[in-house]
Amino acid sequence: MPRQSPPEFAGRPAAHCRVRVGVDLVDVERLERLLGANPGAADELFTVAEQAYCEGKRRRVEHLAARFAAKEAVLKAFGTGLGQRMRWTDVEIVNTPLGRPTVRLDGAVAARARERGVSEVEVSLTHTAGLAMAQAVVVSRTERRDQACVST
Ligand SMILES: CC(C)(COP(=O)(O)OP(=O)(O)OC[C@H]1O[C@@H](n2cnc3c(N)ncnc32)[C@H](O)[C@@H]1OP(=O)(O)O)[C@@H](O)C(=O)NCCC(=O)NCCS
Repeated sequence: MPRQSPPEFAGRPAAHCRVRVGVDLVDVERLERLLGANPGAADELFTVAEQAYCEGKRRRVEHLAARFAAKEAVLKAFGTGLGQRMRWTDVEIVNTPLGRPTVRLDGAVAARARERGVSEVEVSLTHTAGLAMAQAVVVSRTERRDQACVST
């Protein structure tokens, strides 16, 4: 079947936006070693609220690893990685009462998001005793009227 243009739903004009994805996989044991060897690492990588969420869990480092994967995945979706003046804590994962992870941006990462017209950042996390993985989706507004929610 030939490739079709992005759809317009029920007569509504399609939003002019760009969708980018990022993914990351973290070795839980490696993060545990890093945290054990560097007393300041937890504060450098995770916000107070993230640490508090994970403290309450039976397998704390597994949850921390998923959060680290989420930060990497979000930055990959931005196409930057951790750039100048950005801190790991500028990307914070906050769970809703039902457990769904949401993303809060701060500092240099939030500034970059504003510059790029980012309107939505979504993540999904999964973790086992050995590995933690996150997928991120970033939606940005674009001026190009020929683009309708496409991945570029
Ligand atoms: C929520 C659920 C899907 C998690 O799956 P799991 O295989 O047990 O565990 P995974 O390692 O794959 O995923 C765990 C992560 O799922 C995410 N999660 C939890 N609840 C969630 C929800 N309601 N929606 C989306 N993601 C959720 C969290 O990020 C969690 O990691 P965290 O606690 O470190 O933040 C599972 O516990 C479940 O089936 N619950 C009952 C049904 C349900 O509420 N489903 C919600 C999805 S619609």
